[in-house]
Amino acid sequence: MKFGHFDDEHREYVIETPKTPLPWINYLGSKEFFSLISNTCGGYTFYKDAKLLRLTRYRYNDVPMDINGKYFYIKDGDCVWNPGWKPTQTELDEYECRHGIGYSKFKGVKKGVRAEVLTFVPVNDNCEVSKLVVTNDSSEEKNISIFSYVEWCLWNADDDSRNFQRNFSTGEVEVKGSAIYHKTEYRERRNHYAVYSVNAPIAAFDTARDSFLGLYHYAGDPEAVMNGKLTNSMASGWSPIAAHQLDVTLKPGESKSYVFVLAYIENPVEDKWESHNVINKKPAEALLSKYDTDAKVDAAFAELNAQWDKLLNIYTVDSSNDKVNRMVNIWNQYQCMVTFNMSRSASYYESGIGRGMGFRDSCQDLLGFVHLIPDRARERIIDIASTQFEDGRAYHQYQPLTKKGNSDIGSGFGDDPLWLIAGTSAYIRETGDATILDEMVPFDNDMSVAQPLMEHLRRSFGYVDTHRGPHNLPLIGRADWNDCLNLNCHSTQPGESFQTFGPSEGPVAESVFIGGMFVKYGNEYADLCDLKGLNEEAAKVRASVEEMNKILLDSNAGWDGEWFVRAYDSYGNKVGSKDCEEGKIYIEPQGFCVLAGVGKETGEAEKALDSVKKHLDTKYGVMILQPAYTVYHEELGEVSSYPPGYKENAGIFCHNNPWVSIAETVIGRGDRAFEVYKKTCPAYTEEISEIHRTEPYIYCQMVAGADAKFHGEGKNSWLTGTAAWTFVNISQYILGVYPTLKGLSVDPCVPADFGDFNVKRVYRGVEYDITVKQNGVQKGVKELIVDGAKVEGTVIPYDASKKTVKVEVVMG
Ligand code: BGC
Repeated sequence: MKFGHFDDEHREYVIETPKTPLPWINYLGSKEFFSLISNTCGGYTFYKDAKLLRLTRYRYNDVPMDINGKYFYIKDGDCVWNPGWKPTQTELDEYECRHGIGYSKFKGVKKGVRAEVLTFVPVNDNCEVSKLVVTNDSSEEKNISIFSYVEWCLWNADDDSRNFQRNFSTGEVEVKGSAIYHKTEYRERRNHYAVYSVNAPIAAFDTARDSFLGLYHYAGDPEAVMNGKLTNSMASGWSPIAAHQLDVTLKPGESKSYVFVLAYIENPVEDKWESHNVINKKPAEALLSKYDTDAKVDAAFAELNAQWDKLLNIYTVDSSNDKVNRMVNIWNQYQCMVTFNMSRSASYYESGIGRGMGFRDSCQDLLGFVHLIPDRARERIIDIASTQFEDGRAYHQYQPLTKKGNSDIGSGFGDDPLWLIAGTSAYIRETGDATILDEMVPFDNDMSVAQPLMEHLRRSFGYVDTHRGPHNLPLIGRADWNDCLNLNCHSTQPGESFQTFGPSEGPVAESVFIGGMFVKYGNEYADLCDLKGLNEEAAKVRASVEEMNKILLDSNAGWDGEWFVRAYDSYGNKVGSKDCEEGKIYIEPQGFCVLAGVGKETGEAEKALDSVKKHLDTKYGVMILQPAYTVYHEELGEVSSYPPGYKENAGIFCHNNPWVSIAETVIGRGDRAFEVYKKTCPAYTEEISEIHRTEPYIYCQMVAGADAKFHGEGKNSWLTGTAAWTFVNISQYILGVYPTLKGLSVDPCVPADFGDFNVKRVYRGVEYDITVKQNGVQKGVKELIVDGAKVEGTVIPYDASKKTVKVEVVMG
């Protein structure tokens, strides 16, 4: 069952009812100012850092769900309603929400009044703009009142939700004309404030929550709105809000339009005040004047759309499969940009308080957006590498505002160092810019010990190479990619963190998965060594990789007979083996070892993937392990803490499904690669939205596995490495347009009935127009013709002197 439909022409998902199975949200903002907005106008806003600089408050885990947002109320006689249905939940005569690329549009119709809202964050300013147009579609004159409402957050979202003994006394506001200023803590150490304004004279306002809502009321039932008159309250402590009242008369057929702007403003310390305790509003007024007419707003909206046109033209596919076209050309790349901006910090499931930017997460996210914004990818790599320790290990997370490593979680995750190689290699393969390797980058943010980025990569590889266990496999530490496989933790008390409790660097517990990564990224590192003319080092690295390859295929180490072992626990026992009672087979080493090419020539690769199909496959995707753990295993950690079928305990963890699909392309099975791709693909799961429940235009982190009560139900949408890996899978492996250090390679692996297709790709400033004649073949390039000339192999030689290149690929 569907709750809306795709509008590909406008790059929108059109939600036809507010009563979606979960809030279906969108992200606004692309640089520093961000909002989350749901299909009922719920959500919140922050500047740069969802924890430290949050403008508006959100209530997680509350009922009714999705309880706070940026709302407009319309009072028409006794009827009070919202264009997005919530929070009053007054039944609407018509409702529509269009989530687009960096904007959302709402339409609500009630008793002949139509309210349309367009909300977006402009490309160049730290504000959110909402254009509200009200139209009288009836044949009588209408006298209505419009009310806006946002609830301020007291900046640090963590403090805001805990420190009430202080916070209920600190709130301060100012009002000037139609602009409501939130200036809590500005009197002391903050040089920033927020403003919410409308480009029309207002009839009244409120800034104190209790006055607006009324004691013991809530946003669905605000007393001042119900009374039809805001109270001009001035907040003092407690909970500051911003609400405007506009009294509007509309003749039949008449429309009126209002622009609301919510902005973040910073002042220089020496220029904080206009007069004693009166904030300097000049920068706010300058900003508001940039959006005070419809024409200015329309121009800013056009600028936003033009920016996205440019970005989304970098990789486009035209195939006979609409769903693939839609995901590749629009939604998958869009989600990659959002994960670039947010990492795992702020969603409806990530509170924005707990986690900053993940080291491994951000490195992997980079794989999905590096082609879109290579300059920012470059900065991101430097930021990430700056949190690495001198010995090659890394902080697991860092805070986006300070860019400092997060010492609460610390270090010791065995896979982290290798992801830095993955991200850097992807950047150089995309851009050809090897100068990044010479960039001086600090360790643990200490510039006095800075080394070139190449040295960081060397230490990444070296750390894993020199930290091995009894089977000569890499040590797992606190966990590897699977944050919940905590083999050194041995926690028995509730409340202990599975990731930080216990010794992080146990000398026994090993990860076969990291072994697969070592092969994949060891080879990429060796290529970078060659690029730098370090051929001796490259040879040494390749020798280590070759040795690891053998260890992975050794039945006394990595190979279990029908599939790859997952790990060895701290007692030296196998995890993910036929010898285990539960958790006999895990997905990660099968996907990653095979995509790294391990066992490709000798048959283990095919066997491992056949075992995945046999033991882990479901109609909703490939599960992370089987059989699920039915009891808690102290020696395995968090993985066994979940009930069977959920999360890392036999859920379908969407992130690693593309690894299996990529692995299938590596052994040439296009039918199966595509089958795996389809199972978690939003454009395909849209049809079962009532089961899947999360947004049908983007990926979620997890779908409940076969053991779960709600098999097929998605959870934790938006911020997941699934976005990047799926885009890598479909664009580079299935459609097969892969950036190498020497140029673009074209080597598709598609289902036999996929048909011919065309990819347009802007790469290092050259536009490639690639036509693939498929000939019913799953993999294999018979002919590569570049601008009319035949070329050997699959790599299009890079020629910077050309603006456009025509490529014909004949499969066979
Ligand atoms: C984390 C990832 C981790 C994954 C699997 C996600 O929540 O952000 O870093 O790889 O879970 O445990």
